[in-house]
Amino acid sequence: MILVGAGTARSEGYRRTPARSAGFRERAAAEGRPVCPVTAVVSGAAQVPPLLAADEPDHGDALLVTCAGAGTDALDRARRVLGPDRVVVVGGDTVDLPAAVDALHARGLSRILCEGGPRLLRDVAAADTLDELCLTVVPLLSAGVQQRVTSGAGVDRTLVPRLVVERDGTLLHRWMRP
Ligand SMILES: NC(=O)c1ccc[n+]([C@@H]2O[C@H](COP(=O)([O-])OP(=O)(O)OC[C@H]3O[C@@H](n4cnc5c(N)ncnc54)[C@H](OP(=O)(O)O)[C@@H]3O)[C@@H](O)[C@H]2O)c1
Repeated sequence: MILVGAGTARSEGYRRTPARSAGFRERAAAEGRPVCPVTAVVSGAAQVPPLLAADEPDHGDALLVTCAGAGTDALDRARRVLGPDRVVVVGGDTVDLPAAVDALHARGLSRILCEGGPRLLRDVAAADTLDELCLTVVPLLSAGVQQRVTSGAGVDRTLVPRLVVERDGTLLHRWMRP
């Protein structure tokens, strides 16, 4: 399943995830996972990105992971848009990420790919819920004011390199917790 912050889902126009290759479907069915990956959006304000609200055939389910601090009006609106079973409320003022992971596991969603963005990745790392990090470095030196891959209050987590692959000057890294 895919976990993504509401900022990224909004700015990149996330939709529900389509069915994958026949091989992916077979493996997913054999492991008891959904054939189309579920997409879960983390939003403290309980805002459902409009494109995820649309039910599409042959696409995975959409979930909203939110918190009580969103308020009852926003939570009710999200439940009307997605259906009550698809709104997961964990935490008070912000989403409690370890509780979110537990709630997703309880739904059988045990393999969670977090696609960011920077704020969510920072919170995932701060909550010690990051097992591995895939990072791409491209051959371009770029000045200017850019976001880092994490943003928010400082947090340090030690990672160890497990894999580095180079192709045409692009480096694909896989880092894991020690
Ligand atoms: N280069 C890359 O590989 C890459 C990858 C991902 C994203 N991005 C870029 O990053 C930018 C978005 O940055 P961003 O920092 O806004 O993204 P983000 O982390 O995707 O979204 C931030 C929003 O997610 C919700 N959120 C995240 N963690 C939360 C928590 N612990 N509790 C409650 N709510 C939480 C909040 O939503 P609400 O405001 O709804 O409460 C918050 O405003 C986009 O331009 C995107 O394209 C780049």
